[in-house]
Amino acid sequence: MSMRESSAFALLSLWLSRGDRFRKISFRRWIPALVVATSALALFWTYAVPQLARFRFRAGLSRYDMGWYGFGPTRNYVSFGEESPIIEISPAGAQCDPRYTFLAPRGDSVVHPGPMILDAAGELIWTKPNWGTTQDFKVQRYKGQDYLTYWQGDEEDGHGRGSWYMLDSTYTIRHIVSPSGIIEGDLHDFQITSNNTALITAYEPIPYDLTSVGGPEFGWLYDGIIQEINLETGELLFQWRSSSFYPPESSYEPMGGKGHERTLGYDYFHMNSVDKDDRGRYLISARHTHTVTCVDGTTGEVLWSLGGKDNEFFDESDGAATQFAWQHDARWQSPNTLTLFNNGANAASDSSSISHGVLLKLDIPARKAKVLTSYDHPQELMVVSQGNLQVLDNGNVLVGWGHSAAFTEFSPNGTMLCDVHFGASAYFTFGRIVSYRSFKNNWIGLPDTIPDAAVTRESVFVSWNGATEVATWRFQAWDGADLNNMTFGTIKDVERTGFETEISFTPDLKSYFRVVALSSEGAVLGITEVLQRGTAPMEDTFTLDHSWRVAIVLLFVLCCLTFGLYFAISRVLRYQRSQRDMSYRPLSHKDENEDDPENGLGQLPI
Ligand SMILES: *[C@@H]1O[C@H](CO)[C@@H](O)[C@H](O)[C@H]1NC(C)=O
Ligand SMILES: *[C@@H]1O[C@H](CO)[C@@H](O)[C@H](O)[C@H]1NC(C)=O
Ligand SMILES: *[C@@H]1O[C@H](CO)[C@@H](O)[C@H](O)[C@H]1NC(C)=O
Repeated sequence: MSMRESSAFALLSLWLSRGDRFRKISFRRWIPALVVATSALALFWTYAVPQLARFRFRAGLSRYDMGWYGFGPTRNYVSFGEESPIIEISPAGAQCDPRYTFLAPRGDSVVHPGPMILDAAGELIWTKPNWGTTQDFKVQRYKGQDYLTYWQGDEEDGHGRGSWYMLDSTYTIRHIVSPSGIIEGDLHDFQITSNNTALITAYEPIPYDLTSVGGPEFGWLYDGIIQEINLETGELLFQWRSSSFYPPESSYEPMGGKGHERTLGYDYFHMNSVDKDDRGRYLISARHTHTVTCVDGTTGEVLWSLGGKDNEFFDESDGAATQFAWQHDARWQSPNTLTLFNNGANAASDSSSISHGVLLKLDIPARKAKVLTSYDHPQELMVVSQGNLQVLDNGNVLVGWGHSAAFTEFSPNGTMLCDVHFGASAYFTFGRIVSYRSFKNNWIGLPDTIPDAAVTRESVFVSWNGATEVATWRFQAWDGADLNNMTFGTIKDVERTGFETEISFTPDLKSYFRVVALSSEGAVLGITEVLQRGTAPMEDTFTLDHSWRVAIVLLFVLCCLTFGLYFAISRVLRYQRSQRDMSYRPLSHKDENEDDPENGLGQLPI
């Protein structure tokens, strides 16, 4: 935008300076010039200034964070068709938790959104391109076994219509879970309890008189529903509706013309997490009322509300414990402590508040609350939506920054240990790469596929999407004996070097070969197809990062526009000149200046 305008200005001044050479001001030129300049300024003000204001350039940003490598730098593979993010870990030499990271990156800079596992160094472990939106990807335990769980479906107006998926260690979908009744599963939360039941969130539009909050009398309200269901049978064990306990007046969300249609209800509550403790108390986070609600597990009565207009707690931390806003992910940590991710900032009001994770201590009988620890990002991120906080089993705390492509690990006292970015932080407010939540966990993946391989003339590239246990790749060549019952002899073992490993051929490799995946104990985990040395030259593995492709296309378009503009203007000028030359030539005594007919024209009254 700004570049196009600056070139337009350059052209304009060039044009004007031609007249200036003769120190005579032409109004005929100045008026259109002023019009052009004013419109350019107006355009700049309307389109470029708000965007520029959203950049979060800070002193000392790394090249990565300034976008030197793109909004969300990614890498490609030869043997695998998907990309994975290139991450940046800071501070230098940071000791990050060695477990795997579970993300679901999506946004304009993400080519194939879906669930993704990375190792602590950012190497890809597993990804799966999914249709629609994938959210809340994590490991959960069900009946003593670990499952990968995520929500998948269509996102609509801030909530979702979809189902929850449970994948076993072979990445096979074992359960697809939907709410009980006609409502569809919402993208915000799916928690498997220690009793092997599932807690889920759902949004249901209900008819509602919204006149008390300036809406229509025969309007529509999004009711926030939690259900606890039996995962085996789908039986509904418990249900709670926000509309029975919180009126629309509790909300901070502007009505904004909503509430007239069933498909565009007034989202006054916006429930985004549900948790349950061993005493059977539910804990519900509602973004649009700024409340954390404790609900009795048998009666469904609200035991207390923390935060928002219905706050019952005295704040012993000068507002920090109760004045959270647009928050996410409220979780029990003990009978009287809880954690949450306080967004503070909100897209609608474009607040400049800073987001952070907090650990709160409650004195429930005395209705007092205080902040025990705050988990703050060193770059003071302003996370307008999403985000989560996970307490790891070593007591450290992982904060996922949702709308900002980052997750950060803290020691229990709030000291930052390791900050990981999977997008350039200067552009975080544009939300080009987001992950609703980020988690760390152990995981053993034993895919029921075979390893992928891509053969070139000099080497073979091997990878195995989802396999966590491969330590070594064993390269084996056919012994040339029996084509109908092939036997292979080991040529060499190559240590796995990351998601993809390149194995170069030995000069004497004649024909068929295969690659065997071995565990650290030497057990065979999988074998590639029988492969043959490639005859084509080394495949051109140079592929441009997506963002750079976009940047190059933009640059090209800008160049075309500039040249187009230049040629258009010079054509018009030449045309005008020739017209004037024709009309005024007879009046001139002598044609001193062939290129500038304005010489005579400037004196004419306009
Ligand atoms: C699990 O079930 C027991 C017995 O019904 C109950 O007391 C407990 O609160 C339940 N825990 C959760 C997390 O649902
Ligand atoms: C916080 O904990 C870290 C170790 O986890 C320690 O090095 C640091 O000194 C502690 N800071 C404070 C203020 O207690
Ligand atoms: C293939 O060869 C192996 C050993 O080289 C042998 O044990 C096996 O019986 C053979 N199979 C067939 C179908 O010939």
